[in-house]
Amino acid sequence: MRRTPRPLVAGNWKMHGLKSSLREARAVATSLAKGAFSCDVMICPPATLLRPMKEAVQGSKLKLGGQDCHASSQGAHTGDVSAEMLKDAGAGAVIVGHSERRADHGETNMQVRSKAAAAHRAGLVAIICVGETLAERKAGAARRVVGHQLKGSLPVTANEKNTVIAYEPVWAIGTGLTPTVDDVADVHSHIRKRLGALMSEGAPDRVRLLYGGSVKPANAEELLAIKNVDGALVGGASLKARDFLMIVSASG
Ligand code: 13P
Repeated sequence: MRRTPRPLVAGNWKMHGLKSSLREARAVATSLAKGAFSCDVMICPPATLLRPMKEAVQGSKLKLGGQDCHASSQGAHTGDVSAEMLKDAGAGAVIVGHSERRADHGETNMQVRSKAAAAHRAGLVAIICVGETLAERKAGAARRVVGHQLKGSLPVTANEKNTVIAYEPVWAIGTGLTPTVDDVADVHSHIRKRLGALMSEGAPDRVRLLYGGSVKPANAEELLAIKNVDGALVGGASLKARDFLMIVSASG
């Protein structure tokens, strides 16, 4: 029997958030202190807000993560941020290979794998994103594309503690569209099976598999109840504490 991993609901703030937005993180932290939630909760703010957010929610259960990192720990890479820097600023995790980075910055599986390895080197959890485009789904290639991305993006250092996989169909991100329950279940079970061939025994059952793409308070309960869905990666709906907390509550 598969031991269900503790769910994780993570908010990806993307390029949103100024100092004034810290009140949303504070509100999430305060609610976590009051209620008994059965999932881990994380916010991944822009890098500029990591340190102030860490200070704003000090002592709370709210976890923090970055949204991307460079593969090197330091060097002449203007504008980039290393995994070590994210850790230093208060992050415990970092998203790598988000489809917006794969599309906007041409990131390849190999680069994503190096970034995930960098996260592990720095002691961060790597949240590795995979997901098919609409054309790929229409062509019946969703499983194949996701399997290929997974194999190419997973570093040898990956284990159930330092790695989370997020399935985010590109066409579902920011569109209000979501795959059917059956389609999510199908891809997640495929990911779980593929991990069986890519990781050492036992680990694949315990790696958390998140669903991401238009998760909202209205659909969170249904999506989070799907077999092999161990949480959510939430974009737009994570920016307001109220909506985000409704999604957190839906995880059970
Ligand atoms: P939305 O929830 O806004 O669709 O974004 C999902 C996402 O990309 C999270 O990483």
